[in-house]
Amino acid sequence: MLRDSVKFSEVAKKKIVAGNWKMNKTIEEGTALAKAVAAGKFSSRVTVVLCPPFINLQSVQKVIARKKSIRLGAQNLYPEPHGAYTGEVSAEMLGAAGVSYVILGHSERRQYFHESDEFISRKIKAALSKGITPIFCCGEPSEIRHAGKHIAYVENQLHNALFNLTEAEISGVVIAYEPIWAIGTGLTASPQQAQEMHASIRKLLKKRFGATTAKNIPILYGGSCNAGNAAELFTLPDVDGGLIGGASLNAEDFIKIANSF
Ligand code: PGA
Repeated sequence: MLRDSVKFSEVAKKKIVAGNWKMNKTIEEGTALAKAVAAGKFSSRVTVVLCPPFINLQSVQKVIARKKSIRLGAQNLYPEPHGAYTGEVSAEMLGAAGVSYVILGHSERRQYFHESDEFISRKIKAALSKGITPIFCCGEPSEIRHAGKHIAYVENQLHNALFNLTEAEISGVVIAYEPIWAIGTGLTASPQQAQEMHASIRKLLKKRFGATTAKNIPILYGGSCNAGNAAELFTLPDVDGGLIGGASLNAEDFIKIANSF
């Protein structure tokens, strides 16, 4: 009986599929891609998020403005509200540009731009203060997984970047588990590996924020998720959607992924 009610709430929960375009697409190319995605049909259970480079935000926003199922996302922000931070963009600026989601803590930013959990935590708070939903990325490198320490590694990332939030704040966060060894490599986590980590994340959220809050936080999978493997991953009990890199650059594939529930 209890199991049935749990199942029902999982079914009712909104799913999210976000496309992380990374540093790809000129304004013209990005507009064409957004138009092709916007021409797709999506179930009302799915929120589709397009995360183009900053320079494409305005043009993509124009394309998706009337599509209820598609939201605009950014790939980064700077935690200060304004000022002398050459080259950076604030949460307020993103909000004013129609951005509803922002990817934070992506492993590429951690690796190439040396972002720490503490810095990411400041960005999360800045996003939340402007009503933008952070998509917080976590995930282990291959050597950590081979050493069998992946669960503790991700727990530490969550602890540092998220566990200082209030229950109200965490309720506005989306988590994306992205094993680094799976990003852009074609090596997807197996359903068992993905479910094990997602269930562990859910358990930690429950311990820190309580069962109801933990149940409602979307936990996305990312890392070589594509039109061929999305359905298997998205039907796992603790996987609420995906953060899609490479495959989000192809509208047909991305639409198929977003309809894989
Ligand atoms: P990928 O990237 O789908 O190309 O592996 C995912 C991501 O980095 O968000």
